[in-house]
Amino acid sequence: MLILGIESSCDETAAAVVENGRTVKSNVIASSLEEHKLYGGVVPEIASRRHAEAISGVVSQALSDAGCEIQDIDAVAVTFAPGLIGALLVGVSFAKGLAVSAGKPLVPVHHLRSHIAANYLTSDVEPPFLSLVVSGGHSHIVAVNGYTDYKIIGKTRDDAAGEALDKAGRAMGLPYPGGVSIDKISPLGNADAYSFPHPKIDGAPYDFSFSGLKTSVINTIHNASQKGIKINTADLAASYQKAVVECLVDNLEKAAVNYRYKKIVLAGGVSANSLLRANCEKMCRKHSIKLYKPQLKYCGDNGAMVAAQGYYEFKSGVRASSNLNAYANMPIDSINF
Ligand code: KG4
Ligand code: ZN
Repeated sequence: MLILGIESSCDETAAAVVENGRTVKSNVIASSLEEHKLYGGVVPEIASRRHAEAISGVVSQALSDAGCEIQDIDAVAVTFAPGLIGALLVGVSFAKGLAVSAGKPLVPVHHLRSHIAANYLTSDVEPPFLSLVVSGGHSHIVAVNGYTDYKIIGKTRDDAAGEALDKAGRAMGLPYPGGVSIDKISPLGNADAYSFPHPKIDGAPYDFSFSGLKTSVINTIHNASQKGIKINTADLAASYQKAVVECLVDNLEKAAVNYRYKKIVLAGGVSANSLLRANCEKMCRKHSIKLYKPQLKYCGDNGAMVAAQGYYEFKSGVRASSNLNAYANMPIDSINF
């Protein structure tokens, strides 16, 4: 079964053709990241405009790279939530038009479910497993009990891990996205140079809170500048990255041990982080847990992961009509459209 996946939830316009949820036939990504870098973050209006310009060409390219035409496709899968509403609407509108005109089923896909599905593209992992989903907008620990069956075990109370890295990177004067810059510069610094809090939430052992950490790094920078002390950016980045990663891995470890999961799946843009990957390896080895990490090229937003999840949604009977709307917010465990 061939699924065309379309993604436009943030700044990547992407499309891909995937066979049976596992084999990538094509994967095309156009990004407006370079333009957003000028502003230090994603500008929604610019993202929407670039999606509208790129989407037709990106989808045509994905079909031709896969050596097929729209008639060869079994279903059109599209990210419909969560994300930037104007950006999502471009993908959803395009997918609706394409599905209706070609007479193909339309399958709505939740963005975080598709990040998890990125692992299906390069490994044979199957549910049940525990997943750490860490992106620019979300930080979740999710029990994935089936391909379309999720339970949130822990989540962030404020900022997402990616957001906390991006905002700290910006305060340190590093290029956007801060998560990528901090990952790059950290090996040059001493991760024990600064100490940061590891916030815990009473009664919610698997939940995260990153806003205090972010404030703490910003205060460190302001205090140093008021006193005329020069900050070593690599030391600060390394120490901050260590704190964020320790918060993530500590809670993930507690959840995996308590719920007795023997498989852990990393997902989302932040799962590209080298320290997170290394520390998860160590933690999983300690508990004889098998760790799955998405290939780096599938960590960020892409159409292949949408097609992969779309396949499993399609098999479980999920279909949308041409009235499908896009939603900025939607929980991973109970989709509604
Ligand atoms: O999943 P994603 O591409 O988009 C969303 O769905 O949000 O995630 C983007 C986030 C950004 O916050 C970015 O800084 C972060 O992923 N990110 C990283 C790395 N690569 C991307 N964070 C830490 N280390 C990385 N290597
Ligand atoms: Zn994403």
